[in-house]
Amino acid sequence: MKAIVIRRYGTPEVLQYEDVELPKIKPNQLLIKVYASCVNPIDWKIRKGMLSLITGNKFPMVLGLDVAGEVVEVGSQVTRFQPGAAIYGSTDLFGGAYAEYAAVSEKWAAPKPINMTYQEAASLPGSALTALKALRGEGNIQSGQRVLVNGAAGGVGIFAVQIAKALGAEVTGVCSTKNLDFVKSLGADRVIDYTQQDFTQDPVQYDIILDAVGKRSFSDCKRVLKPNGVYITTLPTLENMVQIALTALIPGQKAKFVLNNPTNQDLVYVKELIEAGKIRTVIDRTYPLNELAAAHAYSETERAVGKIAIAINSV
Ligand SMILES: NC(=O)c1ccc[n+]([C@@H]2O[C@H](COP(=O)([O-])OP(=O)(O)OC[C@H]3O[C@@H](n4cnc5c(N)ncnc54)[C@H](OP(=O)(O)O)[C@@H]3O)[C@@H](O)[C@H]2O)c1
Repeated sequence: MKAIVIRRYGTPEVLQYEDVELPKIKPNQLLIKVYASCVNPIDWKIRKGMLSLITGNKFPMVLGLDVAGEVVEVGSQVTRFQPGAAIYGSTDLFGGAYAEYAAVSEKWAAPKPINMTYQEAASLPGSALTALKALRGEGNIQSGQRVLVNGAAGGVGIFAVQIAKALGAEVTGVCSTKNLDFVKSLGADRVIDYTQQDFTQDPVQYDIILDAVGKRSFSDCKRVLKPNGVYITTLPTLENMVQIALTALIPGQKAKFVLNNPTNQDLVYVKELIEAGKIRTVIDRTYPLNELAAAHAYSETERAVGKIAIAINSV
């Protein structure tokens, strides 16, 4: 099969389109014919070697986490899926989705939303599931709460705005000038242009601040968090990790870090939100598998509006 392989960490040029062996599945895994994947910033962080303490130095590696496709084989312990099922989900941290076939654990797969294409469904696991876990898991979001999403135009941000609205919150989205109307169109009640206004100097206070792009620290946001408000970041900087440890020990404002870990229940929950028309995806650009280096280069600009899809096998 064709796959994108890296043989060392480095610039997008290390992503090579090659022939590799089909993945061998474990008893709890599904072999998926992959119709689409998506680029997440963690993919290029792994490619650059920024997570090499976790990902190690065992090359060749096939990167990519988001998968949407068709089950072609099931492991002996799999109970919920049969060959032919249309699924979406995530590979493990070591990737494998930038390929024509991928191994996916049964617990990290769910039926594809019926009203989505494979490319649209592949845009969900890394981003919508992170937004859901941040807001519902770490933030314990409640209807009527005031929520601010920083980075509202990005992959995590577009879903955070919509999920917070779907769960009854009053939502403020923070983005640059060109994306103000776009973020409003996602349902945000209020938008703030960070090139013109610093939300941390606002008179408004929030129950939850989700820094989806990891650009503002807990210390920056304290002033505009309610006394029992929760700040959640997607990026574990040293400063934030210290604040997370400290605020866990004392009553009042909390700092938290969200780590995506897409469970089957959450994948099904997101599928239901999609099928009920409560949230939608936005695909900024689609690249074929053999142009993955260009897709990574675009993601690294941090200017993508919504998601960057990868078209793999034709349906
Ligand atoms: N911990 C986890 O489990 C987890 C899971 C998913 C993602 N992440 C991390 O979360 C971060 C965001 O991921 P993503 O997929 O949302 O990224 P993304 O799609 O690449 O984000 C792009 C967006 O970021 C916005 N942006 C850039 N600079 C900004 C700033 N200073 N203030 C506000 N918005 C800004 C841009 O909007 P404008 O052009 O309008 O500025 C753009 O639309 C990444 O660091 C990623 O690694 C972590």
